[in-house]
Amino acid sequence: MLTELLVSPALWITLAVLAAGWLVYAFLCWRQKFEFFNSLPGEENFSFIWGNLHMFPRPMTGAASFKFATGLLSKNRRWYRFWVGPFRPVIFLFHPDHCKAILQTSEPKPLGIGDTMKLALPWLGEGLVISNGERWYRSRHMLTPAFHFDILRPYVDVYNKAADILCENIDKLADTGKSFDIYPLLKLCTFDIILKCAMSVDLDIQLKGNALYFSDTFYRITVSGDEFYKCCDLVHEFAEDVIDKRRKELEEEGPPQKRYLDFLDILLTAKDESGKGLSKEEIRAEVDTFLFAGHETSSTALSWLLHLLTQNLDYQVRVQEEVESVLKDRDSTDVTWADLSKLETLTCCMKEALRLYPPAPGVLRILTKDMEMDGVTLPAGTRLIAMIMNLHRNPDVWEDPEEFRPERFEKEQTKDRSPYAFVPFSAGPRNCIGQVFAQNEIKVMASKVLFDLTPDPDHPVVPNSAAVLHSETGVWVYANRRILWH
Ligand code: HEM
Repeated sequence: MLTELLVSPALWITLAVLAAGWLVYAFLCWRQKFEFFNSLPGEENFSFIWGNLHMFPRPMTGAASFKFATGLLSKNRRWYRFWVGPFRPVIFLFHPDHCKAILQTSEPKPLGIGDTMKLALPWLGEGLVISNGERWYRSRHMLTPAFHFDILRPYVDVYNKAADILCENIDKLADTGKSFDIYPLLKLCTFDIILKCAMSVDLDIQLKGNALYFSDTFYRITVSGDEFYKCCDLVHEFAEDVIDKRRKELEEEGPPQKRYLDFLDILLTAKDESGKGLSKEEIRAEVDTFLFAGHETSSTALSWLLHLLTQNLDYQVRVQEEVESVLKDRDSTDVTWADLSKLETLTCCMKEALRLYPPAPGVLRILTKDMEMDGVTLPAGTRLIAMIMNLHRNPDVWEDPEEFRPERFEKEQTKDRSPYAFVPFSAGPRNCIGQVFAQNEIKVMASKVLFDLTPDPDHPVVPNSAAVLHSETGVWVYANRRILWH
């Protein structure tokens, strides 16, 4: 019977008609979508294989990527559509109104097939940066107390101590009279800090270097899947070991008496409204997330700040003089919690560096419902990227956007500016939970690096707009120790 059916031409004709019908329907749907998205400002050179991907520079790294991305502003100052392959339109947003529309919502991050964020899942798990919906909401609620001022205040000591070691390391290189790349030193320092603040772990990595950090490509998504998964395992094992030991300590001895509360103490004791704590897997995901989100971004921001101060020596001197005047008549060069708000010029310079080179150059969202922008209704399912990097260089928002002008952030000049014009830490419900931590850390470290820094013209910076906007060639400087003021 079945064999008869299978050889029956009627069956095959019916199937062929159904398939053809489905193909026509799918084509019509696609054409409608194609026409709608093509009516938006965007790239025209459409390929049925690549969409507009073939328009991207190859490789999409270094100066070419940065120039390409910021160059989109010359095509449109509000938004720009790209086809990623023939079926997926992505809209890049460059204007405060557009960025506000998406950032003030809790729309999720896209984690479907081909979405770049999905790549980080095996490594970061569903920690705060990646999770969506209920899971994100519950974790955000439980972790917010970890960033309360009372918790952050004692970390200033940690920043000072780590920065002292950083200065010793810079000192050794300064003595050689040769230029050097300061970026790796900054990364080690911020990694040292986050290990201490997240888990009270002291690996002395600034002094010894560390196997965990240097194990090939720790915290870097590699082309080799095998290597990537091995690195993930190494990091997860390390974190799990620390978590297990701490859980035992907390159960046996209660909250720590001799040291500050770190993020892990908070994670292990946090409870939701129903009195339920975080699972072991959730805690590990958050620890991994803090270790990643909490060091590369800060060190990159500081590297750009120092680079810009080498290019603008008048500001370097003003920052040095400000720090000296705040710390004068003290026995110690340590910056205190109370000093942080007095460092106004430094704060303006830091913000200007975050404007020109935001470490997170863009944030992604996917619409779960239709959204109106510029009188157009974008359908649910549309992927949007708030391009922080372009927003911060948009000539419709910033006068002479390419110029380093820290005074833009003086109170008088900010009062008429949209709060969505400057968003290095994103904005809205999914803004950066670590932004105060990061800014305090950068200010302490910058105040301590009281060297006279000058650029090395043989090693120019090359901004690379990857997941973190860093200089592909590092940040090479000559350093001269300043005579301290006491
Ligand atoms: C200069 C330094 C930093 C910059 C520029 C920065 C920037 C950002 C941005 C733009 C986002 C939004 C990402 C998105 O929506 O996809 C974000 C989220 C986040 N950041 Fe930061 N960040 C910095 C430092 C830190 C530090 C030091 C920590 C932790 C100690 C941290 C922890 C996080 C977490 C957990 C999230 C996810 C928040 C959520 O979705 O609820 N960041 N950060």
